Amino acid sequence: TGLGVIVNMKDFEKFAEPMLSKVAWAYYASAADDEITKNSNASAYQNVTFRPRILQRVAKADCTTTIMGKESALPLFISPAAMAKLGHPDGEINLTKGAANTGIIQCISSNASCSVEEINAARAPGQPLFFQLYVNRKREVAAELIKKVDRLGMDAIMMTGDAPVGGKRERDLRLKGEFEGPAGGVSEKSGETQGVSQAMFAGVDPDLHWDDIPWVRSLTDTPIIIKGVQTVEDALLAYERGADGILISNHGGRQLDTTRPCLDVLLEIRKHAPQLLRPEFRGDTGLNPESLKNLAQVVPPSRPGKMERPFEVYIDGGINRGTDVVKALCLGANAVGVGRGFLFAQSVAGVEGVEHAVGILQSEILLTLRLLGVNKLSELRPSMVEVKS
Ligand code: FNR
Repeated sequence: TGLGVIVNMKDFEKFAEPMLSKVAWAYYASAADDEITKNSNASAYQNVTFRPRILQRVAKADCTTTIMGKESALPLFISPAAMAKLGHPDGEINLTKGAANTGIIQCISSNASCSVEEINAARAPGQPLFFQLYVNRKREVAAELIKKVDRLGMDAIMMTGDAPVGGKRERDLRLKGEFEGPAGGVSEKSGETQGVSQAMFAGVDPDLHWDDIPWVRSLTDTPIIIKGVQTVEDALLAYERGADGILISNHGGRQLDTTRPCLDVLLEIRKHAPQLLRPEFRGDTGLNPESLKNLAQVVPPSRPGKMERPFEVYIDGGINRGTDVVKALCLGANAVGVGRGFLFAQSVAGVEGVEHAVGILQSEILLTLRLLGVNKLSELRPSMVEVKS
Protein backbone atom coordinates (compact mmCIF):
# COMPACT_ATOMS: atom_id res chain seq x y z
CA THR A 1 0.00 0.00 0.00
CA GLY A 2 3.02 2.27 0.16
CA LEU A 3 2.22 3.50 3.65
CA GLY A 4 5.12 1.50 5.07
CA VAL A 5 7.34 4.56 4.63
CA ILE A 6 5.22 6.34 7.24
CA VAL A 7 6.42 5.07 10.59
CA ASN A 8 5.28 7.80 12.99
CA MET A 9 2.64 10.54 13.23
CA LYS A 10 5.07 13.32 12.28
CA ASP A 11 5.71 11.52 8.97
CA PHE A 12 2.09 12.16 7.97
CA GLU A 13 2.70 15.88 8.28
CA LYS A 14 5.84 15.63 6.16
CA PHE A 15 4.06 13.67 3.43
CA ALA A 16 0.95 15.86 3.57
CA GLU A 17 2.67 19.20 3.09
CA PRO A 18 3.63 18.80 -0.59
CA MET A 19 0.25 17.16 -1.38
CA LEU A 20 -1.93 19.90 0.09
CA SER A 21 -2.98 23.17 -1.52
CA LYS A 22 -1.41 26.32 -0.06
CA VAL A 23 -4.72 27.18 1.59
CA ALA A 24 -5.16 23.73 3.13
CA TRP A 25 -1.60 23.57 4.44
CA ALA A 26 -1.88 27.05 5.96
CA TYR A 27 -5.21 26.23 7.59
CA TYR A 28 -4.17 22.85 9.02
CA ALA A 29 -0.68 23.73 10.18
CA SER A 30 -1.35 27.26 11.38
CA ALA A 31 -1.62 28.45 14.95
CA ALA A 32 -2.00 31.89 16.51
CA ASP A 33 0.57 34.70 16.38
CA ASP A 34 4.09 33.28 16.77
CA GLU A 35 2.83 29.70 17.28
CA ILE A 36 4.58 29.55 20.68
CA THR A 37 1.79 27.57 22.34
CA LYS A 38 1.44 25.17 19.41
CA ASN A 39 5.11 24.27 19.78
CA SER A 40 5.18 24.19 23.57
CA ASN A 41 2.13 21.88 23.67
CA ALA A 42 4.33 19.26 22.05
CA SER A 43 7.66 20.05 23.71
CA ALA A 44 6.08 19.97 27.22
CA TYR A 45 5.97 16.18 26.95
CA GLN A 46 9.77 16.17 26.80
CA ASN A 47 9.83 17.61 30.33
CA VAL A 48 8.21 14.44 31.59
CA THR A 49 10.48 11.42 31.85
CA PHE A 50 9.61 7.82 32.66
CA ARG A 51 10.55 5.74 35.71
CA PRO A 52 10.12 2.29 34.17
CA ARG A 53 9.93 -0.84 36.28
CA ILE A 54 11.49 -3.97 34.84
CA LEU A 55 10.59 -7.66 34.98
CA GLN A 56 6.85 -7.05 35.28
CA ARG A 57 5.33 -9.81 33.09
CA VAL A 58 4.05 -7.64 30.27
CA ALA A 59 3.15 -10.18 27.59
CA LYS A 60 -0.56 -9.40 27.97
CA ALA A 61 -0.43 -5.60 27.79
CA ASP A 62 -3.77 -4.11 26.78
CA CYS A 63 -4.66 -0.51 25.90
CA THR A 64 -8.45 -0.70 25.54
CA THR A 65 -10.60 1.62 27.64
CA THR A 66 -13.88 3.52 27.70
CA ILE A 67 -14.34 7.20 26.89
CA MET A 68 -17.51 8.76 28.29
CA GLY A 69 -18.85 5.25 28.69
CA LYS A 70 -18.10 4.17 25.12
CA GLU A 71 -15.58 1.47 24.30
CA SER A 72 -12.39 2.57 22.62
CA ALA A 73 -9.48 0.48 21.37
CA LEU A 74 -7.08 3.20 22.50
CA PRO A 75 -7.17 5.90 25.20
CA LEU A 76 -7.35 8.37 22.34
CA PHE A 77 -10.02 10.04 20.19
CA ILE A 78 -10.03 12.18 17.07
CA SER A 79 -10.28 15.80 18.20
CA PRO A 80 -12.77 17.85 16.20
CA ALA A 81 -11.05 19.66 13.37
CA ALA A 82 -12.90 21.51 10.63
CA MET A 83 -12.68 21.21 6.86
CA ALA A 84 -11.28 17.74 6.26
CA LYS A 85 -12.23 18.10 2.57
CA LEU A 86 -9.47 20.66 2.14
CA GLY A 87 -7.14 17.69 2.45
CA HIS A 88 -9.07 14.86 0.77
CA PRO A 89 -12.26 14.74 -1.34
CA ASP A 90 -14.01 12.38 1.11
CA GLY A 91 -13.22 14.61 4.08
CA GLU A 92 -14.61 13.69 7.49
CA ILE A 93 -16.07 10.42 6.15
CA ASN A 94 -12.48 9.13 6.05
CA LEU A 95 -12.26 9.72 9.78
CA THR A 96 -15.64 8.08 10.40
CA LYS A 97 -14.74 4.92 8.51
CA GLY A 98 -11.19 4.81 9.82
CA ALA A 99 -12.47 5.19 13.38
CA ALA A 100 -15.05 2.42 12.87
CA ASN A 101 -12.50 0.04 11.39
CA THR A 102 -10.06 0.54 14.26
CA GLY A 103 -12.46 0.97 17.18
CA ILE A 104 -11.71 4.55 18.14
CA ILE A 105 -14.03 7.55 18.55
CA GLN A 106 -14.29 10.53 16.20
CA CYS A 107 -15.51 13.89 17.43
CA ILE A 108 -17.18 15.72 14.52
CA SER A 109 -16.54 19.46 14.20
CA SER A 110 -19.41 21.96 13.99
CA ASN A 111 -17.55 23.20 10.93
CA ALA A 112 -17.02 19.82 9.32
CA SER A 113 -17.00 19.92 5.52
CA CYS A 114 -19.33 16.89 5.40
CA SER A 115 -22.73 17.42 7.02
CA VAL A 116 -23.49 15.62 10.25
CA GLU A 117 -26.24 13.73 8.37
CA GLU A 118 -23.71 12.50 5.78
CA ILE A 119 -21.33 11.44 8.52
CA ASN A 120 -24.12 9.72 10.39
CA ALA A 121 -25.09 7.84 7.23
CA ALA A 122 -21.51 6.53 6.93
CA ARG A 123 -21.57 5.38 10.56
CA ALA A 124 -21.09 1.65 11.22
CA PRO A 125 -23.79 -0.07 13.33
CA GLY A 126 -23.28 0.89 16.98
CA GLN A 127 -20.34 3.15 16.17
CA PRO A 128 -19.88 5.81 18.84
CA LEU A 129 -19.53 9.40 17.61
CA PHE A 130 -19.09 12.66 19.49
CA PHE A 131 -20.16 16.07 18.19
CA GLN A 132 -18.33 19.35 18.81
CA LEU A 133 -20.65 22.29 19.32
CA TYR A 134 -20.09 25.94 18.52
CA VAL A 135 -23.07 27.78 19.96
CA ASN A 136 -24.56 30.06 17.32
CA ARG A 137 -25.39 33.60 18.35
CA LYS A 138 -28.93 32.91 17.13
CA ARG A 139 -29.99 30.66 19.94
CA GLU A 140 -32.86 29.09 17.94
CA VAL A 141 -30.26 27.93 15.43
CA ALA A 142 -28.09 26.53 18.23
CA ALA A 143 -31.07 24.79 19.84
CA GLU A 144 -32.04 23.19 16.50
CA LEU A 145 -28.50 21.89 16.08
CA ILE A 146 -28.40 20.44 19.61
CA LYS A 147 -31.72 18.69 19.03
CA LYS A 148 -30.54 17.33 15.69
CA VAL A 149 -27.37 15.97 17.30
CA ASP A 150 -29.54 14.38 19.94
CA ARG A 151 -31.82 12.82 17.32
CA LEU A 152 -28.86 11.39 15.45
CA GLY A 153 -27.75 9.67 18.64
CA MET A 154 -24.39 11.36 19.09
CA ASP A 155 -22.75 9.94 22.20
CA ALA A 156 -21.35 13.19 23.60
CA ILE A 157 -21.47 16.89 22.88
CA MET A 158 -18.16 18.67 23.16
CA MET A 159 -18.92 22.32 23.72
CA THR A 160 -15.98 24.48 22.73
CA GLY A 161 -15.35 27.40 25.06
CA ASP A 162 -11.96 28.71 24.01
CA ALA A 163 -13.06 30.29 20.74
CA PRO A 164 -15.49 33.19 21.35
CA VAL A 165 -13.64 34.67 18.37
CA GLY A 166 -10.99 33.18 16.12
CA GLY A 167 -7.30 33.60 17.00
CA LYS A 168 -4.94 35.55 14.76
CA ARG A 169 -3.59 32.90 12.43
CA GLU A 170 -1.12 34.60 10.22
CA ARG A 171 -0.49 31.79 7.74
CA ASP A 172 -4.19 32.03 6.86
CA LEU A 173 -4.22 35.80 6.76
CA ARG A 174 -1.45 35.82 4.19
CA LEU A 175 -3.69 33.77 1.88
CA LYS A 176 -6.80 35.84 2.46
CA GLY A 177 -9.07 35.82 -0.56
CA GLU A 178 -8.05 32.37 -1.75
CA PHE A 179 -10.75 30.62 0.22
CA GLU A 180 -14.46 30.53 -0.65
CA GLY A 181 -15.97 29.71 2.73
CA PRO A 182 -17.21 26.52 4.38
CA ALA A 183 -20.05 24.45 3.01
CA GLY A 184 -22.22 24.36 6.12
CA GLY A 185 -21.86 24.59 9.86
CA VAL A 186 -22.23 27.73 11.91
CA SER A 187 -20.47 30.05 9.52
CA GLU A 188 -22.28 32.56 7.43
CA LYS A 189 -21.16 33.56 4.00
CA SER A 190 -20.06 37.14 3.88
CA GLY A 191 -19.16 39.25 0.90
CA GLU A 192 -15.73 40.19 2.13
CA THR A 193 -12.84 37.82 1.67
CA GLN A 194 -11.43 36.32 4.81
CA GLY A 195 -8.88 33.68 5.76
CA VAL A 196 -10.24 30.17 6.34
CA SER A 197 -10.02 30.54 10.12
CA GLN A 198 -11.94 33.79 10.29
CA ALA A 199 -14.68 32.36 8.06
CA MET A 200 -15.17 29.57 10.61
CA PHE A 201 -16.18 31.83 13.46
CA ALA A 202 -18.77 34.03 11.75
CA GLY A 203 -21.77 32.56 13.57
CA VAL A 204 -20.19 31.76 16.92
CA ASP A 205 -21.58 33.61 19.93
CA PRO A 206 -18.83 35.53 21.72
CA ASP A 207 -21.21 36.08 24.66
CA LEU A 208 -21.45 32.40 25.53
CA HIS A 209 -21.18 31.98 29.31
CA TRP A 210 -21.01 29.31 32.01
CA ASP A 211 -24.62 30.21 32.83
CA ASP A 212 -25.63 28.89 29.40
CA ILE A 213 -24.58 25.35 30.21
CA PRO A 214 -27.79 24.53 32.08
CA TRP A 215 -29.64 25.74 28.96
CA VAL A 216 -27.71 23.28 26.79
CA ARG A 217 -28.33 20.61 29.43
CA SER A 218 -32.08 21.34 29.32
CA LEU A 219 -32.15 20.56 25.60
CA THR A 220 -30.41 17.19 25.68
CA ASP A 221 -29.53 14.20 27.84
CA THR A 222 -26.35 13.58 25.85
CA PRO A 223 -23.20 13.87 27.99
CA ILE A 224 -21.59 17.32 27.77
CA ILE A 225 -17.84 17.83 27.65
CA ILE A 226 -16.44 21.37 27.94
CA LYS A 227 -13.58 21.81 25.47
CA GLY A 228 -10.85 24.38 25.92
CA VAL A 229 -10.38 24.35 29.72
CA GLN A 230 -7.04 25.91 30.63
CA THR A 231 -7.21 26.52 34.39
CA VAL A 232 -8.21 24.56 37.49
CA GLU A 233 -10.79 27.27 38.19
CA ASP A 234 -12.60 26.53 34.92
CA ALA A 235 -12.28 22.78 35.45
CA LEU A 236 -14.14 23.22 38.74
CA LEU A 237 -16.74 25.46 37.12
CA ALA A 238 -17.38 22.86 34.43
CA TYR A 239 -17.93 20.27 37.14
CA GLU A 240 -20.18 22.61 39.15
CA ARG A 241 -22.33 23.51 36.15
CA GLY A 242 -23.05 19.87 35.48
CA ALA A 243 -20.70 19.00 32.64
CA ASP A 244 -19.80 15.32 32.38
CA GLY A 245 -16.19 15.99 31.56
CA ILE A 246 -13.65 18.46 30.21
CA LEU A 247 -11.15 18.52 27.41
CA ILE A 248 -8.06 20.45 28.50
CA SER A 249 -7.15 22.20 25.28
CA ASN A 250 -5.86 25.46 23.85
CA HIS A 251 -7.20 24.59 20.39
CA GLY A 252 -3.80 23.33 19.32
CA GLY A 253 -2.33 26.81 19.97
CA ARG A 254 -4.71 28.39 17.46
CA GLN A 255 -6.42 30.80 19.85
CA LEU A 256 -4.53 32.78 22.54
CA ASP A 257 -0.84 32.43 21.88
CA THR A 258 1.60 32.07 24.79
CA THR A 259 -0.93 30.23 26.94
CA ARG A 260 0.63 27.39 28.90
CA PRO A 261 1.08 24.01 27.30
CA CYS A 262 -1.93 21.81 28.05
CA LEU A 263 0.17 19.44 30.13
CA ASP A 264 0.76 22.24 32.70
CA VAL A 265 -3.01 22.59 33.09
CA LEU A 266 -3.34 18.88 33.83
CA LEU A 267 -0.60 19.22 36.47
CA GLU A 268 -2.45 22.18 38.00
CA ILE A 269 -5.68 20.19 38.20
CA ARG A 270 -3.86 17.28 39.80
CA LYS A 271 -2.36 19.60 42.41
CA HIS A 272 -5.47 21.57 43.31
CA ALA A 273 -8.47 19.43 42.38
CA PRO A 274 -7.45 15.76 42.18
CA GLN A 275 -11.07 14.77 42.89
CA LEU A 276 -11.85 15.60 39.30
CA LEU A 277 -9.41 12.94 38.06
CA ARG A 278 -9.57 9.15 37.87
CA PRO A 279 -10.27 7.42 41.20
CA GLU A 280 -6.62 6.39 41.62
CA PHE A 281 -5.69 10.06 41.67
CA ARG A 282 -8.11 11.26 44.31
CA GLY A 283 -6.40 11.88 47.61
CA ASP A 284 -3.03 11.74 45.93
CA THR A 285 -0.03 13.31 47.67
CA GLY A 286 0.81 16.98 47.27
CA LEU A 287 -2.73 17.94 48.12
CA ASN A 288 -3.29 21.42 49.47
CA PRO A 289 -6.40 21.37 51.70
CA GLU A 290 -6.90 25.14 51.36
CA SER A 291 -7.28 24.95 47.60
CA LEU A 292 -9.87 22.21 47.93
CA LYS A 293 -12.21 24.09 50.23
CA ASN A 294 -14.34 25.31 47.37
CA LEU A 295 -14.67 21.87 45.91
CA ALA A 296 -15.98 20.49 49.18
CA GLN A 297 -18.90 22.89 48.84
CA VAL A 298 -19.70 21.81 45.34
CA VAL A 299 -23.04 20.10 45.28
CA PRO A 300 -23.21 17.79 42.30
CA PRO A 301 -26.03 19.12 40.18
CA SER A 302 -29.14 17.03 40.04
CA ARG A 303 -29.08 15.00 36.86
CA PRO A 304 -31.34 12.03 37.36
CA GLY A 305 -29.80 8.80 36.14
CA LYS A 306 -26.53 10.43 35.15
CA MET A 307 -24.51 10.68 38.31
CA GLU A 308 -23.22 7.14 38.26
CA ARG A 309 -20.82 8.13 35.48
CA PRO A 310 -17.69 9.70 36.92
CA PHE A 311 -16.40 13.02 35.64
CA GLU A 312 -13.74 12.54 32.97
CA VAL A 313 -10.74 14.66 32.04
CA TYR A 314 -9.19 14.60 28.58
CA ILE A 315 -6.30 16.54 27.08
CA ASP A 316 -5.23 17.41 23.55
CA GLY A 317 -2.51 19.46 21.85
CA GLY A 318 0.86 18.34 20.59
CA ILE A 319 0.30 14.63 21.13
CA ASN A 320 2.31 12.76 18.52
CA ARG A 321 3.66 9.69 20.26
CA GLY A 322 2.51 6.72 22.29
CA THR A 323 4.83 7.98 25.02
CA ASP A 324 2.94 11.32 25.08
CA VAL A 325 -0.36 9.46 25.51
CA VAL A 326 0.95 7.31 28.34
CA LYS A 327 2.49 10.32 30.12
CA ALA A 328 -0.84 12.17 30.04
CA LEU A 329 -2.56 9.12 31.55
CA CYS A 330 0.15 8.76 34.23
CA LEU A 331 -0.64 12.33 35.23
CA GLY A 332 -4.39 11.74 35.52
CA ALA A 333 -6.05 12.09 32.11
CA ASN A 334 -8.67 9.51 31.12
CA ALA A 335 -7.85 9.84 27.44
CA VAL A 336 -6.25 12.21 24.94
CA GLY A 337 -7.25 13.82 21.65
CA VAL A 338 -5.28 14.17 18.43
CA GLY A 339 -6.26 16.90 15.95
CA ARG A 340 -3.80 17.71 13.18
CA GLY A 341 -2.32 14.21 13.07
CA PHE A 342 -5.59 12.74 11.80
CA LEU A 343 -6.23 15.60 9.36
CA PHE A 344 -2.84 14.92 7.81
CA ALA A 345 -3.38 11.14 7.85
CA GLN A 346 -6.68 11.38 5.95
CA SER A 347 -5.15 13.90 3.55
CA VAL A 348 -2.32 11.51 2.68
CA ALA A 349 -4.32 8.31 2.25
CA GLY A 350 -8.00 8.68 3.15
CA VAL A 351 -9.50 5.88 5.26
CA GLU A 352 -6.34 3.82 4.95
CA GLY A 353 -4.28 6.74 6.23
CA VAL A 354 -6.50 7.00 9.30
CA GLU A 355 -6.21 3.25 9.93
CA HIS A 356 -2.45 3.43 9.54
CA ALA A 357 -2.27 6.33 12.01
CA VAL A 358 -4.29 4.41 14.60
CA GLY A 359 -2.07 1.38 14.04
CA ILE A 360 1.06 3.45 14.66
CA LEU A 361 -0.35 4.99 17.82
CA GLN A 362 -1.64 1.66 19.08
CA SER A 363 1.67 -0.11 18.66
CA GLU A 364 3.52 2.81 20.25
CA ILE A 365 1.15 2.85 23.24
CA LEU A 366 1.45 -0.92 23.75
CA LEU A 367 5.22 -0.74 23.41
CA THR A 368 5.38 2.07 25.97
CA LEU A 369 3.22 0.13 28.43
CA ARG A 370 5.43 -2.94 28.15
CA LEU A 371 8.69 -1.05 28.45
CA LEU A 372 7.27 0.86 31.42
CA GLY A 373 6.32 -2.41 33.12
CA VAL A 374 2.55 -2.01 32.92
CA ASN A 375 -0.24 -4.22 31.53
CA LYS A 376 -3.31 -2.04 31.89
CA LEU A 377 -4.07 1.65 31.56
CA SER A 378 -5.66 1.70 35.02
CA GLU A 379 -2.25 0.83 36.50
CA LEU A 380 -0.70 4.08 35.25
CA ARG A 381 0.39 6.34 38.15
CA PRO A 382 2.28 9.60 38.73
CA SER A 383 5.07 7.55 40.32
CA MET A 384 5.87 6.20 36.84
CA VAL A 385 6.99 9.62 35.60
CA GLU A 386 9.11 12.49 36.79
CA VAL A 387 8.09 16.04 35.85
CA LYS A 388 11.00 18.44 35.44
CA SER A 389 10.20 21.90 36.71
C1 FNR B 1 -9.04 22.55 15.07
N1 FNR B 1 -9.65 22.53 16.32
C2 FNR B 1 -11.00 22.72 16.41
N2 FNR B 1 -11.63 22.67 17.62
C3 FNR B 1 -12.95 22.81 17.74
O1 FNR B 1 -13.46 22.76 18.84
N3 FNR B 1 -13.71 23.01 16.63
C4 FNR B 1 -13.18 23.07 15.39
O2 FNR B 1 -13.89 23.24 14.41
C5 FNR B 1 -11.78 22.95 15.26
N4 FNR B 1 -11.19 23.04 14.04
C6 FNR B 1 -9.84 22.83 13.91
C7 FNR B 1 -9.26 22.83 12.67
C8 FNR B 1 -7.92 22.56 12.52
C9 FNR B 1 -7.30 22.58 11.15
C10 FNR B 1 -7.12 22.26 13.66
C11 FNR B 1 -5.65 21.94 13.53
C12 FNR B 1 -7.68 22.27 14.90
C13 FNR B 1 -8.84 22.21 17.51
C14 FNR B 1 -8.77 20.70 17.71
O3 FNR B 1 -9.99 20.18 18.15
C15 FNR B 1 -7.73 20.32 18.78
O4 FNR B 1 -7.98 21.00 19.99
C16 FNR B 1 -6.28 20.56 18.35
O5 FNR B 1 -6.10 20.29 16.99
C17 FNR B 1 -5.35 19.69 19.19
O6 FNR B 1 -4.04 19.92 18.90
P1 FNR B 1 -3.16 19.04 17.88
O7 FNR B 1 -3.45 17.59 18.15
O8 FNR B 1 -3.56 19.47 16.52
O9 FNR B 1 -1.77 19.46 18.24
